[in-house]
Amino acid sequence: MAHVSDLIATDIESYLATHEQKGLLRFITCGSVDDGKSTLIGRMLYESHMLFDDHLTALEADSKRVGTQDGEIDFALLVDGLAAEREQGITIDVAYRFFSTEKRKYIVADTPGHEEYTRNMATGASTADVAIILIDARQGVLTQTRRHSFIVSMVGVKKVLLAVNKLDLVDYSQEVYDSIVSEYKKFASEALELEEITSIPISALKGDNIVDNSENTPWYDGQTVMGYLESVEVESAAQMRPFRMPVQWVNRPNLDFRGFSGLVASGTVSPGDKVRILPSGTESTIDKIVTWEGDLPLAGAGRSITITLTEEVDVSRGDIITTAEHPCSLADQFQARVLWMHESAMMPGRQYLFKSSTQITGMNLTRLKHRIDVNTLVELPAKVLDLNEIGICNISLHERIAFDPYDEDATMGGFIIMDRLTNETVGMGLIDFALRRADNIHWQAMDVSKESRSESKGQKAMMLWLTGLSGSGKSSIANILEKKLHALGRHTITLDGDNVRHGLNQDLGFTPADRVENIRRIGEVGKLMLDAGLICITSFISPFASERDMARSLVQEGEFIEVFIDTPLEVCEQRDVKGLYAKARAGELPNFTGISSPYEEPVNPEIRIDTTEMSAEEAADAIIEHIQNNA
Ligand code: ADX
Repeated sequence: MAHVSDLIATDIESYLATHEQKGLLRFITCGSVDDGKSTLIGRMLYESHMLFDDHLTALEADSKRVGTQDGEIDFALLVDGLAAEREQGITIDVAYRFFSTEKRKYIVADTPGHEEYTRNMATGASTADVAIILIDARQGVLTQTRRHSFIVSMVGVKKVLLAVNKLDLVDYSQEVYDSIVSEYKKFASEALELEEITSIPISALKGDNIVDNSENTPWYDGQTVMGYLESVEVESAAQMRPFRMPVQWVNRPNLDFRGFSGLVASGTVSPGDKVRILPSGTESTIDKIVTWEGDLPLAGAGRSITITLTEEVDVSRGDIITTAEHPCSLADQFQARVLWMHESAMMPGRQYLFKSSTQITGMNLTRLKHRIDVNTLVELPAKVLDLNEIGICNISLHERIAFDPYDEDATMGGFIIMDRLTNETVGMGLIDFALRRADNIHWQAMDVSKESRSESKGQKAMMLWLTGLSGSGKSSIANILEKKLHALGRHTITLDGDNVRHGLNQDLGFTPADRVENIRRIGEVGKLMLDAGLICITSFISPFASERDMARSLVQEGEFIEVFIDTPLEVCEQRDVKGLYAKARAGELPNFTGISSPYEEPVNPEIRIDTTEMSAEEAADAIIEHIQNNA
């Protein structure tokens, strides 16, 4: 399925690149179809004489659907737009519509209003300067109004236009309007971080207070919707910020020239400016700003430039060049607001990839503090974040990154979360603040190393990671394997699921989140065993590829040997040594692996043991043979 917003995102970039940015207003409209959102957008497009840009293909579809060159407009068609898009088999995540008036150009993000589209709304709102929150005057402030407002505020929108619509259906009553506005303002002051709320009584269908002040609301003498959009001040926030530029590449065509190229993420820069290079902290001064069109006296956010420095300093790809007066911070632990965007839940303890505007690095969600019910804005305890849920999390990164809190700088404080195995985007996040912890805990370098410890035992430390269904034979094989290794004079330790769950992991059950944590701890304990120079045998179902992979990544290449104890479910169920399969089938044991909880088979295990062909004894011999051949 094509996701239209992906296509259109590139259009926006080209739109911005080819148009003067001055006078551009990005806004989002929030409300359901019933609130009159589509009618309002249709009305604005109509009143703005449909000044589309002809070279934008994304618009052609819109202009056909919305109307024709001479201003005809078919509201019904626009209202049905989303349904039509669905029929054509395209998912509209966010539809961006472009139009302009004499004073300004506009990009309006139009997203579906239902709760399951929370992530689309957040995507659309994250680039908006202003949000128009539509309210049906007959309904007043709804749960949905609060949810939409919370999301736009969460992603940093500071100005809201409260459009109280369908006033014609309440006889243009000032009383109704006033009470809705005061209820909304009360809610906003308690729950949101907005700078400015402007309210306007309208009828999108009748055109009241859209372009001209309506005679139907003589009690209202404020702005019209178009008047507001044309005049609302949006400081070019990115330009006002201190200068930051991630270095995309280092240009060294000859010995005399060393330039650093990148896209200015925020602020402006001029020759002579003092800058600091992060993470090293070295300072230098800007010599020149070089472009294809010649040297520049000044360059601002959104522009791709190459800069040269007055001194030879060490700068490499991925470094950040910032102003020396207000450099950004460096940290690897944060509190962040996270919106989960994937069907498989976010689980604390699982490893993900963190991608900011400047860096990609490994990330661990160390703690989910709570989730926020977007309808009631109540904080709820939570173990996982499901699709479209928002949570407050602590995250820990594998490397330090240069950042600013999201509230100060959306570019430097926003990030996306990707799956480590598939690289799919699974969530988005906003940095609240850095946690200082990392600064005070230093890795203690030990003089006696893993190598010296294993050498004194005359062996190579390694992790033999047995994975397979319950009843597949892991524990029996592990037991024989350890006896044989012991007889060969090897120093070993076995970690077994049933045993560890009586001690270290007695607080964990069998929900997916608990299994993730179970395996995370085993990975860490196993790593310590390797540090002790031991051969560590682990015997856990370890049903998820992601955590097995995480355990692998904790140790060095060649130290992790994944052994897939491949016993078909039917066979395990037939044996049913502990009687658990019978219980699971009877519905008495929830989340049972293979029955009501998934087992992700290893795709590329170092060793695969087919227990239908091999005894436990033979399996142990096969594993030892593998170790000896690969020693
Ligand atoms: S894991 O999935 O987190 O790796 P682990 O290997 O520690 O599981 O524990 C599995 C053992 O716990 C099984 O062999 C079985 O004896 C027992 N058990 C109890 N409930 C379940 C369940 N719902 N699913 C799987 N195993 C269970």
